[in-house]
Amino acid sequence: KAGIYSEDLKRPCRLYTSSSNYDHENVHLWRDNLRHPCHPLEDCIKIWPQKPTRYREIVATYSIEAKKLGLRILELLSEGLGLGSGFFGDKLSESLLLSVNHYPPCPDPSLTLGVSRHCDPNLLTILHQGDVYGLQVFKDGEWIGVEPLHNAFVVNIGHQLQIISNNKLKSAEHRAVTNSRVARTTVACFINPSDDCVIEPDKSLIDTDESPAYKPFQFKEFLLNYSSLMGNPEKCLEPFELHA
Ligand code: OGA
Ligand code: NI
Repeated sequence: KAGIYSEDLKRPCRLYTSSSNYDHENVHLWRDNLRHPCHPLEDCIKIWPQKPTRYREIVATYSIEAKKLGLRILELLSEGLGLGSGFFGDKLSESLLLSVNHYPPCPDPSLTLGVSRHCDPNLLTILHQGDVYGLQVFKDGEWIGVEPLHNAFVVNIGHQLQIISNNKLKSAEHRAVTNSRVARTTVACFINPSDDCVIEPDKSLIDTDESPAYKPFQFKEFLLNYSSLMGNPEKCLEPFELHA
C-alpha cells in the first residue's frame, strides 16, 4: 500500500486515509480510499496499481461492465424523463472514476464514521457494497440502513442528474457507518461528465409554471466547490442555484 499512498490531491491514482482534508478535519474517517480514473482505459491503466498482479486486468473488465450498466440505467432514466435516446451519452457521461473504500473494524463505531454524509457529486454511481452492512440513506429525517443484497448493486443519483432534471430526480444523502467486528470493502464507479462539460437544467424538463432552479456551470467548477465544502449536502448546490 505504501507505494501508492499519497496526500497529493493532484495525483490521479492514489491511496489515502480518511478524506482529502486530513489535516483540517475535526474527526478522521475510519477508512482508506483508493481512487483512479478509468477512461480512456488505454491511458489510465498505465497509472493503476501493479499489485496484486491481476489488478489491472480485473479492474479493467469490471470498470467496462459497470459503465455499461450505468449507461443502460441512464438510457432508461432518459426515456422515463421524456428526453431523447442517447441524451446522457457522450460528454455528460464521458468520464469514469473508480473509488475503493476499505473500512477496517473500528473499536468504537460511535466515535466516527466510514464516510460522512454527502450526496455523490457525479451523474450516477454504481456501488458494489459487498456483504457487510454499513451504508445508510437519509429519508424523512432519519438514517435508514441499506442492507446488502448479495450480487446486487446500489445505484445512486448524483447531484448532476438532480440539476439536469431541474430537481425532478433527487440525489439521495447517504453515509457509511463502521462496525467493530469485520472489515468492509466497497467499490464505487462514478460516472462523471467531462471536466469542461456545461451542466444546466434541460429546457424540456422545466415545466411552464417553473423556472430553472440552477444556472449553467462547468462540471469542474462544481467539483472544486464540492471538495472545498467537503461535500456538505446543504451548501454544495448553493452557488449554482437560481431563485425565482
Ligand atoms: C461513496 C460512498 C458508501 C459505502 O463512496 O461515495 O457513499 O458504503 N460509499 O462505501
Ligand atoms: Ni457516496
